[in-house]
Amino acid sequence: MKAIVHTRYGGPEVLSLGEAPLPKTGEDEILVKVHASSVTTADWRMRAAAFPPALWLPGRLMTGLFRPRHAIPGGEFAGRVVETGRAVRRFKPGDSVFGFSGHGANAEFLAIREDACVAPSPASLSFAEAAALPFGGLAALVFLRDFARVSPGQDVLVVGATGGVGSYAVQIARALGARVTAVCSAANGWLARDLGAEDVIDYHTESPLDRPRRYDVVFDTVGAMNVPASRAILKPGGLFLPLNFSLPEIYHALRGRMFGGPRVHIGVNADRAEDLETLAEMVWNGQLRPVIDRIYPLQDVPDAHAYVQRRHRKGAVVITTATGAAPAALPSEGVMPGLVAEPVPHGICLQV
Ligand SMILES: NC(=O)c1ccc[n+]([C@@H]2O[C@H](COP(=O)([O-])OP(=O)(O)OC[C@H]3O[C@@H](n4cnc5c(N)ncnc54)[C@H](OP(=O)(O)O)[C@@H]3O)[C@@H](O)[C@H]2O)c1
Repeated sequence: MKAIVHTRYGGPEVLSLGEAPLPKTGEDEILVKVHASSVTTADWRMRAAAFPPALWLPGRLMTGLFRPRHAIPGGEFAGRVVETGRAVRRFKPGDSVFGFSGHGANAEFLAIREDACVAPSPASLSFAEAAALPFGGLAALVFLRDFARVSPGQDVLVVGATGGVGSYAVQIARALGARVTAVCSAANGWLARDLGAEDVIDYHTESPLDRPRRYDVVFDTVGAMNVPASRAILKPGGLFLPLNFSLPEIYHALRGRMFGGPRVHIGVNADRAEDLETLAEMVWNGQLRPVIDRIYPLQDVPDAHAYVQRRHRKGAVVITTATGAAPAALPSEGVMPGLVAEPVPHGICLQV
């Protein structure tokens, strides 16, 4: 099968389109024909071994000490089940599924255990849209619902509100009943509002510290805030939730837990099928929609990595494995939340 492969850490140039053996379907596994996958921040960080200094060793132990443990990158996927192992009960051939495998998804086929992070794909979504959901959706759901326990009427500040996680965080905080203030650039203010933000702060010209509003939760998806700054804008007892963390946040989180003080929560979201099902339900209820910035064909994964690594993406960057897909990308100002983008021989055709 065709797959993107890499055997060393480095820039996007270490990735190339190659041939890989078709994955074997274990007894408790399903074989998925991948119609769409994606490139996320996790993917480029693993490709570049770019971990915060404090997490360098744990990061390398996880991804491979000297070279990538998994040759095929790509964590998010959506596609159709083509084969099931003998013990599989949840799925059957022909089922449309989406999920998060951590690696192996930038390929034509992927084998994954039926009890891993995989669920029936929301019927109303195209494969490209379904593949845009898991990374950002799962992180936003677990951080806001489980770690912060956001409740109706709370004020939530989302920093990086139109990025891979932020674009889902705005929608999920809103769905949990919060009033959302989005921090993003002015050009993306319309998108943040469209996703449910009540107020928008352009980080190029203003700081949340300049505003009188105080927050129950500050969810920083980009690493732009620190503990003292968050403290200045949190209500008493409010929570700072940094998605990117290093030694200072770890110190404050431990200190707060042991001796009291500013509440800081650091964590990593687990990737669970039941949370995917919650995301699918939210899509069904109209509370959540995928946000797709660009769509690249499989052979252009290196370009997609370079784009995502610039850290100005809006929602997800999707990879399609459809045969003959044109090397098309939506224009950067053409973010199309909730639209179906169908690759056609000479470009991308957008349909509502
Ligand atoms: N702990 C966990 O379990 C977990 C899970 C998932 C992700 N993560 C981590 O979370 C981080 C977020 O990932 P992501 O994929 O959402 O990032 P991303 O998509 O690269 O973020 C890009 C967004 O950040 C915005 N941005 C850049 N600088 C900003 C600033 N100073 N203030 C406000 N917004 C700014 C950009 O807006 P403009 O284009 O308008 O500038 C863009 O919308 C990553 O480091 C990832 O590794 C952790």
